[in-house]
Amino acid sequence: GKGNYRHFMEKELHEHPVVLGDTLRQHIDPATRAVVLPPLPFDPAVVPRITFSACGSAYLAAQVGRYWIEQVARIPVDSDVASELRYRDPPLPEGGAALLVSQSGETADTLAALRLLKQRGQHVLAVVNVSESTMDRESDGTLLTIAGPEIGVASTKAFTAQLAVLASLALGFGRARGTLSAGEEARLTAALLEVPGHAAALLEKGSEIQDMAREVALARDVLFLGRGSLYPIALEGALKLKEISYIHAEGYAAGEMKHGPIALIDRDVPVIALCPSGPLFEKTASNLQEAAARGGRIMAFTDAAGAPALRRFAERVVVLPTVDPFVAPILHAIPVQLLAYHVAVLKGTDVDQPRNLAKAVTVE
Ligand code: F6R
Repeated sequence: GKGNYRHFMEKELHEHPVVLGDTLRQHIDPATRAVVLPPLPFDPAVVPRITFSACGSAYLAAQVGRYWIEQVARIPVDSDVASELRYRDPPLPEGGAALLVSQSGETADTLAALRLLKQRGQHVLAVVNVSESTMDRESDGTLLTIAGPEIGVASTKAFTAQLAVLASLALGFGRARGTLSAGEEARLTAALLEVPGHAAALLEKGSEIQDMAREVALARDVLFLGRGSLYPIALEGALKLKEISYIHAEGYAAGEMKHGPIALIDRDVPVIALCPSGPLFEKTASNLQEAAARGGRIMAFTDAAGAPALRRFAERVVVLPTVDPFVAPILHAIPVQLLAYHVAVLKGTDVDQPRNLAKAVTVE
């Protein structure tokens, strides 16, 4: 049941800390701070390429995984939504790896991509939440997210659990390839293990996000911006908002804004920015300043170090815990999901059962 929560989605949002902890502990030894991966259907030390495929939010988790694996393990990664990949006929290297990401393990397009990639000689690893699902059974190997049943149609805790698995994989691959030192591994696993605690703290201070939701609920269009591994989280924010509140939202790479979407900017379009301090901070902040100069109302998620610079032009700045840039996408996923939830509640939509959507899309 929903317990004391109004909706399954609200309950599931509050499960982020536990789910993240349970999923991370599967792959990180807290004593040695080393990543411990189960036997995989391919050798990450020599695999020539990884092809990610998935749908919806699971695809956005895969996009973050792509940034992580390329950055940490220096493996070439391709990724595509399953409905495109299955008809794209991409050239695939002998002995390549395929990673499918799915909460249900039953999504028709992702399953078709899995079968195609397998038939084309790729070693298929599935990241799924439902044990004994079709993808679990048909893949060469499975890594389970420990998110428990997800009832709300919009994915929440399963998404961050997917990120937890993919972050662990990126670090494990980096070690296997010799691109990540043991010291860096220990530093980044420590950063990951702190995320559940930060997530709990974030859920406590929901009132700032509720205030933001009151303004966003009045908008007809919303723009989400981010760079690097925060770009897929901007897409996740936009997806979740349109899915459950029916407000039109778009996610953009912050640097791409001046190539078109800046034409939309006026007082009526909130610009929600994911802008933690780190190597891409200055670049993102300057994109936001350009939007503010055109009357855009900037609402930014950042950390203590990023807040002062953004406060100079942003209408709202929400300060999230200070974390290593590697884990920032996991932490930022939570407030954008919460925002979508609060906006939907204000609009009075059916949060757990949005119109026209099914929890698992088992037809093409
Ligand atoms: C978004 C959402 C959907 C699913 C997509 C894939 O909130 O829930 O976009 O992520 O339908 O479903 P799975 O992960 O079951 O393959």
